Amino acid sequence: MTQTSTANTQHLVFALFITAVTPPSTLAAVVPDDLFEAIQTLKQELNAVILAHYYQEPDIQDVADYIGDSLELSRKAANTDADVIVFAGVHFMAETAKILSPDKLVLLPDLNAGCSLADTCPPDAFAAFKAAHPGHLVVSYINCSAEIKAMSDIICTSSNAAKIIRQIPESQPIIFAPDRNLGRYVMEQTGRELVVWQGACIVHENFSEKKLVQLKIQHPEAEVIAHPECEQPVLRQADYIGSTSALLKHVSSSAIQAFIVATEPGIIHQMEKAAPEKSFIPAPPMNNCACNECPYMRLNTLEKLYLCMKNKAPEITLPEDIRMAALKPIQRMLEMS
Ligand code: 13P
Ligand code: SF4
Repeated sequence: MTQTSTANTQHLVFALFITAVTPPSTLAAVVPDDLFEAIQTLKQELNAVILAHYYQEPDIQDVADYIGDSLELSRKAANTDADVIVFAGVHFMAETAKILSPDKLVLLPDLNAGCSLADTCPPDAFAAFKAAHPGHLVVSYINCSAEIKAMSDIICTSSNAAKIIRQIPESQPIIFAPDRNLGRYVMEQTGRELVVWQGACIVHENFSEKKLVQLKIQHPEAEVIAHPECEQPVLRQADYIGSTSALLKHVSSSAIQAFIVATEPGIIHQMEKAAPEKSFIPAPPMNNCACNECPYMRLNTLEKLYLCMKNKAPEITLPEDIRMAALKPIQRMLEMS
């Protein structure tokens, strides 16, 4: 068990204990009414920077200093002058911030904010997969654990995956992990053959192609935009495919007035701010649940953001050998993108 998962368990036990023994009136008393103001005050006191991913709830996006995709947030984490990085995102993102800025205190509002895609690639199984493909260079999508990063040669994100693969000599065999949908999309984009680990994201594999086609018929004026973590039948329906930041830029610059958005709907908050005159329709999930909201991203709330700053916990920690090994492929990505 890593330090992080031990801390994870401790915090979960602590949270259950607090919930069990603290009357609701006392809980309300520890969280101030004006959370926005309280968070701003703590930010000054701690010399903290709040980094938020586009899939966070709107209130968290509004209180953040920077909002971005995985690549942009990694760059911010690497270059910030702040003493404390509050990462409003999921565990692998906060872990990447700690790998890049080991001397900073890195806080994640809820340590259980993991990632279904990262979970599909356990280190032992991946080590065996690598051993079965000797001579292969390992390019891993940033949505993976520090242990998988430590076994990789280059990290990529959805905004630079094709660009990175194109820089690798044609004769070099490549393993791509852990997302099978991004892997297949990059193969199509680059014409390269990749040995792809068969992992996937539960959120992006939940869009219904059938319902999407029906929605397109109802909205013939709308363009379909999609994240490359979606499955191939959904991507085939898309007019534009890109990372969260690329999708946001596209809706701002396009002359089109309506978009069907096939990614986590948290991004629609920034789309509506960037182009208030345009309309954004979330792509439909397989059933009537709100399953296209990432259940991990949405574990973070404004209250938990405030409490993690007040308590300086939960903190992200990593064994130094894993951190050092994971740092090299991330630095290669930053150099190549
Ligand atoms: P982006 O890098 O496009 O923001 O994607 C992050 C992510 O987790 C998608 O599911
Ligand atoms: Fe992971 Fe999918 Fe959530 Fe992105 S949307 S953080 S890939 S579970």
